[in-house]
Amino acid sequence: MTLGNGRHYLAIPGPSVSPDRVLRAMHRTSPNIYHGELIEMVPGIIRDLKRVARTDANAAIYIANGHGSWEAAICNVFSPGDRALVLATGSFAHGWAEMAKAVGVAVETLDYGNRDAIDFGQVEAALAADKDHEIKAVMTVQVDTSTSVRNDVAELRAALDRAGHPALLMIDCIACLGCDVFEMDAWGVDVMVTGSQKGLMTPPGLGFIFYNEKADRARETANCVTRYWDWRTRTKPEVFYQYFCGTAPTLHLYGLREALDMIAEEGLPAIWRRHEVLARAVWNAFERWGEAGPLELNVSDPAHRSHAVTSIRVGSAKGTALRDWCEQKAGLTLGIGLGMAPQDAQEWHHFFRLGHMGHVNAQMMLGALATIEAGLKAVGIDHAPGGVEAAAEVIASAA
Ligand SMILES: Cc1ncc(COP(=O)(O)O)c(C=O)c1O
Repeated sequence: MTLGNGRHYLAIPGPSVSPDRVLRAMHRTSPNIYHGELIEMVPGIIRDLKRVARTDANAAIYIANGHGSWEAAICNVFSPGDRALVLATGSFAHGWAEMAKAVGVAVETLDYGNRDAIDFGQVEAALAADKDHEIKAVMTVQVDTSTSVRNDVAELRAALDRAGHPALLMIDCIACLGCDVFEMDAWGVDVMVTGSQKGLMTPPGLGFIFYNEKADRARETANCVTRYWDWRTRTKPEVFYQYFCGTAPTLHLYGLREALDMIAEEGLPAIWRRHEVLARAVWNAFERWGEAGPLELNVSDPAHRSHAVTSIRVGSAKGTALRDWCEQKAGLTLGIGLGMAPQDAQEWHHFFRLGHMGHVNAQMMLGALATIEAGLKAVGIDHAPGGVEAAAEVIASAA
């Protein structure tokens, strides 16, 4: 007997659950890539992607995962020897920094560790100290998926402005576009990178870059740009194949089209609110369980917690046992802890993450939380009773 049979739930922080509508839209014979429906569909996809990014600027699509989007942004902005300031609140900012270093960018990193958000005063001071304005870009991650820290991008823009520094503001929204509020134009973001596989509810394989005219001026002199990663041809193609520098990602585009329709039907404000309520339900459960025992949310200040993912500290090496139990006994896959401890250390087992991004609703989250509660009992992690009830209270009062 196994209680895991039935529909499996992948509750890791991406790739997220693909809606049946998206999967059905992808399940078709291959379209003609030279004329017809596919060609006519792409401008509308770009228009709707920009609506989700809340920008009137330019958008480019790559057949790539998040790492591809990272590299594309770097190549279009920098030349070897240029300077960048990276603000790190988890592993992914460090990952982006490493990719910049690999093409010869001189990266300075302000590291806020694994639990805290960016200190804007420190950023302002670092920029003010750069009197010759050599720092070409400030790069950071809105939500670092490893830690679930969410940074206030509007405040970061204000810090750049207070320092009177002309650096480009480059933001990674791979974890959280379509989950946490993001306003590219209103917040003065110059470059934003994201991918298809989280809030955009489409399988991994499409990377997106949004960039404004200021960023495109940097592209003018950037000599890291190569033909494949060049955002210009993709943004203003003379012929269709240039949108993708080759064969279009045919079936992914149908899936994405459907996902964008779903986003338009629900409306971004309602989507943001759904994610906020579900995130609060998750936080309430863990806070209640943590009243007796070692469980703890990684981010203590709710203002700095993402609405897309929650990182949890188990307080013992039983995190892996809990994940294994949920997956094998109950059909729920939780995310591993990422970047919190070396893979070969005992501490690596002290963490896990729960994704609540994209196509998720109250019954999925309550089911996941109730399963975790069963797992806590099964593997013997001390906890106060009532976590699921605490989550249900949030759902009941918000619904
Ligand atoms: C915030 C963030 N940036 C970058 C990446 C890298 O994306 P990918 O794994 O698709 O290359 C991820 C992946 O989870 C992410 O969450």
